[in-house]
Amino acid sequence: MSEKVTLLDKTFVKYITADKIDEAIAKVAADIMLEYRYDDPILLITLNGAIVFAVDLLKQLDFPCRISCVKLSSYSGTESTGTINSLIGLNEDIRGKRILILEDIVDTGRTYVHLHKMLMDAGAKDVRIATMTMKPEAYKADLPVHYVGFSIPNKFVVGRGLDYDGYGRNLPDIYQVES
Ligand code: IMP
Repeated sequence: MSEKVTLLDKTFVKYITADKIDEAIAKVAADIMLEYRYDDPILLITLNGAIVFAVDLLKQLDFPCRISCVKLSSYSGTESTGTINSLIGLNEDIRGKRILILEDIVDTGRTYVHLHKMLMDAGAKDVRIATMTMKPEAYKADLPVHYVGFSIPNKFVVGRGLDYDGYGRNLPDIYQVES
């Protein structure tokens, strides 16, 4: 894939290659296997962004588990709006279950905190999170982020499921907005 891509009005520069992302996901998968192998967890995919990460990760998890999906939205363009809208909710009984949220990116942590509360209120036994990328400088929550593929600077990124107004999710590498 090319070194630069243009999506709508912005140019993005290649930042993490597909090979490096695959390696990081394999490491995250190995850590998840150690923790959840005997626990029959539910892996909760946050649509749409985490789809690509989830597909790559799930293929490497060699133990009984189920998946479910939720859809939340807090971003408009390259800015967090601060308000989280639940577009598709949880539609199954999770009482007593271990839940592992799968995210493409943890930014301020608002989405995670919102989901964590929703899942604990619904009776989950425990809730953890695995994310492909995280922006530690932007993170404002107290909850631990358990499995992280890459810690990245506080700059907008696209690719591998991450989008700019809906575009860029299909890029196999991760690109950073050009300064
Ligand atoms: P948080 O609630 O602030 O942690 O934001 C999480 C959500 O914001 C993610 O699921 C993404 O949809 C979106 N987001 C945050 N940073 C980026 C980025 O750099 N690129 C694309 N989406 C992002």
